[in-house]
Amino acid sequence: MLPRLLCTSLFVGTLALAGGCSKSEPPAEPEAKGETAAAQPADTAKQAPADKAPQSGVDYHSFANTDDYRVQHIDLDLNVDFERKVLEGEAKLQFKRLNDKNRPMILDTRGLEIESVKAGHGEKMDPVKFSMGEKDDHLGTPLKINLPKNATRVAIQYRTSPDASGVQWLEPQQTAGKEHPFLFTQAQAIHARSFVPLQDSPKVRITYNATIRTPEALRAVMSANNDPQAEKDGVYEFEMPQPIPSYLLALAVGDLEFKPMGERTGVYAEPSLLDAAAAEFEDTESMLEATEKVYGPYRWDRYDLLILPPSFPFGGMENPRLSFITPTVIAGDKSLVALIAHELAHSWSGNLVTNASWRDLWLNEGFTTYLTNRIMQNVYGDERYRMEMALGYDDLQADLKDKDDRDEIMAIDLRGRDPDEVFSNIPYEKGSLFLYELEQKVGRENFDQFLLDYFNNFAFQSITTEDFVKYLNETLLKQYPDKLDAERINEWIFEPGIPAGAPHPQSDAFTKLDPVRSQWLDGEIAAQDIDTGDWTFHQWKYFLDGMPEKLSEAQLKELDEVFGLTESQNNEVAFSWLMIAVRNNYQPAYQRLEQFLTGIGRNKFLRPLYRNLVETGQGELAKRIFENAKRGYHPLTVKVNSNIIYGDDGE
Ligand code: BES
Ligand code: ZN
Repeated sequence: MLPRLLCTSLFVGTLALAGGCSKSEPPAEPEAKGETAAAQPADTAKQAPADKAPQSGVDYHSFANTDDYRVQHIDLDLNVDFERKVLEGEAKLQFKRLNDKNRPMILDTRGLEIESVKAGHGEKMDPVKFSMGEKDDHLGTPLKINLPKNATRVAIQYRTSPDASGVQWLEPQQTAGKEHPFLFTQAQAIHARSFVPLQDSPKVRITYNATIRTPEALRAVMSANNDPQAEKDGVYEFEMPQPIPSYLLALAVGDLEFKPMGERTGVYAEPSLLDAAAAEFEDTESMLEATEKVYGPYRWDRYDLLILPPSFPFGGMENPRLSFITPTVIAGDKSLVALIAHELAHSWSGNLVTNASWRDLWLNEGFTTYLTNRIMQNVYGDERYRMEMALGYDDLQADLKDKDDRDEIMAIDLRGRDPDEVFSNIPYEKGSLFLYELEQKVGRENFDQFLLDYFNNFAFQSITTEDFVKYLNETLLKQYPDKLDAERINEWIFEPGIPAGAPHPQSDAFTKLDPVRSQWLDGEIAAQDIDTGDWTFHQWKYFLDGMPEKLSEAQLKELDEVFGLTESQNNEVAFSWLMIAVRNNYQPAYQRLEQFLTGIGRNKFLRPLYRNLVETGQGELAKRIFENAKRGYHPLTVKVNSNIIYGDDGE
């Protein structure tokens, strides 16, 4: 009989992911100094020795021994079982051997139940021994596979846990149509391992094919070659010929229809949302063309959007060929479409040139935030560009106020930490501001040329912060020695805060609101005297976010009555207003607050609202709302917010 190790909590159906294996073997032996966490026992791998800097290129968030083996292609065959809330089937991994030591192969898993493992060369595969290592709270459980000498493939029969951290199973009630269930995955940063056993490190790139079996009424889509014409027969075949890191592996299943928006762009959504989404995002094709003009050809064939139910924990996720998008940005006036520009921009910064480890996330998000602003300028003009930039700058300043120094460093030390818990504006806005400074110094045209070359040079590669710095040294710094200096670049990347003299993006459309806000606060003018007729969403946000900590009950009431803020249907405006309401205990907005917290799963909104409630002595209310809402939340949303509310991860 094959060794079969099963983790107890996989069967009890509780919220816990995996409570430890009853018959677990010791974790993988440290056999060589490698470049992943597996090279050391799990518990020491996550310790952060304060005196030593993290090693460049080491992925502290994967157990996989990527120095011994590199997985290159995955074939998936999965059945989507909505009754049991499991994905079940086989993952066949083809890999390259990097040495002839024939060490056991270590893969990342989290909460997976492994049925059997076969290995071999070519088509012939035989059962092999495998074991589960010790579970780590952040990293999951290493799967150790003993390989025959010549093996270049393993085939793993497995099923996911109903509470897999990277999968959300939605009841019909949680969808727009209320008739069919829905499923979506969210793999970034380290959740692919909760639905496929693999080398879950962004330094490893794979191509994949998949067969996905669903109930007949539903359609499956993936980060691959979706076919909108595919017959709804419950079996969907996918191919992803471009190599991608595991965090871009994505699947969704639901009552989905497709509507084209342009030649290469279209949208998948539940039928009742399809027209509104296609109208809101109709500029996607122009965004795509604008980006290609500056940064080189789009290399992923099609670019489609998938509109998810409101519990999606992010604004968007750049899954290749098919960005996953929250429905909360369908505002009716295109005011929030910078999100689309952002996810599209990742097709260059992130998906094409990828961060090698999560320490290097700023290479993905900082470049993407910079590109987003440029796309917005191209498609919507200078005013919009300046407003988007200024809001980003203000977000950064707000974040810098209460961050530890170590978390203000772009190349962040994440050892021993869960990347989900360290999410902030630093990699985004500080990264973008850094690139903006480079642009200002060398001139836009020259900087564009640099970026174009950068994307070509590193296309389909995963790179570290140090690779980038080296490239910068060999290119821009050599070309413009009188304009740039290496020390300042190091300060941007490796020091906390913002270097003195950094650019400060501003917008006239905003600065002219400052005196208006002050006059109103000083009682010199009434709210109804303010001419808000042509204010854009950005101006509303700026006006509200700039309010002082405390407002009087009368002031709150006046704002609300004159501007209808509690009723605002723009989720960003509603969010800014609710933050003010919570700080000031403004009860007339609390019903809307509860509805907002219950109906939306986007962490960008939920985290600050829950934190604000807790910090202002309203923790009991936060608990009540959270307990009531959490059944509908994504596992990630549950984790990070229960941490805020209970100071733990709610298990
Ligand atoms: N790739 C990110 C989402 C992400 C980052 C998930 C890190 C997990 C770990 C995505 O592209 C993103 O940045 N989304 C933002 C968009 C916004 C900045 C326009 C979001 O969801 O708010
Ligand atoms: Zn992003």
